[in-house]
Amino acid sequence: MAVQRWDPLLYDDRHSFVARHGSDLIGELDPRPGERILDAGCGTGDLAATLADAGAEVVGVDSSPEMIDRARERFPHLDLRVADLRSLDLEPGFDAVLSNAVLHWIPEAGAAAAGIARALRPGGRLVAELGGAGNVGTIQGAARALRAEQGLPEADGGWYFPGIDEYSAVLEEAGLKVTGAWLFDRPTRLEGDDGLADWLRMFGAPLLSGAPDTDAFIDRLTDRLGPVLHHSGSWWADYVRLRVTAAKPAG
Ligand code: BEZ
Repeated sequence: MAVQRWDPLLYDDRHSFVARHGSDLIGELDPRPGERILDAGCGTGDLAATLADAGAEVVGVDSSPEMIDRARERFPHLDLRVADLRSLDLEPGFDAVLSNAVLHWIPEAGAAAAGIARALRPGGRLVAELGGAGNVGTIQGAARALRAEQGLPEADGGWYFPGIDEYSAVLEEAGLKVTGAWLFDRPTRLEGDDGLADWLRMFGAPLLSGAPDTDAFIDRLTDRLGPVLHHSGSWWADYVRLRVTAAKPAG
């Protein structure tokens, strides 16, 4: 599988929409002062900081040391740790877990759900959002076609974009009770004239792997996608979101 590396400065500069959309999730979570809340996949820390501002005792974890370094620089008062959700082994008893735009990076969905379930106390709740079935389908379709034309092997995915039934089954298997699930389109404006190229460089390793000249591949791809994904003066990613709420049964 292509290894995804993160550039935290580019992430904050060009992809702040990730955290912006995530602030919606905080309304859904409804954090209360004093609650212990885990931000599972905290990136550069924005949502963890918002939860702390609401009076919660927050732990933020991310598998990327670069992201955690940047988050610690920005929010030195927060408890931020490098950890992999698949083998999450924190002190248990969290009142709630929030996860935004992270779980689609973990094809071992059952292991990540089990890690989250372990962290929650009985009666604790989960609010999560990830890419859902059909996410970035236009971008993936064009990249797959170009790879085939160039004789590159099929992109090996590396992303996990489930539908409602599939992901509900994953959470239930991990011992959580699903209380709500929504699958919806969220066309997302990408900042800058090179918005799609920047997005591909930041997130697109699974689509670009093996291309002998990455810049040329990106140029070809953006030329092709322009007529579909560049409009109203901007680039747009065809995001589909899966939002789920769940609880760990009490007792
Ligand atoms: C997403 O947030 O949907 C996403 C981000 C990066 C790559 C693929 C999908």
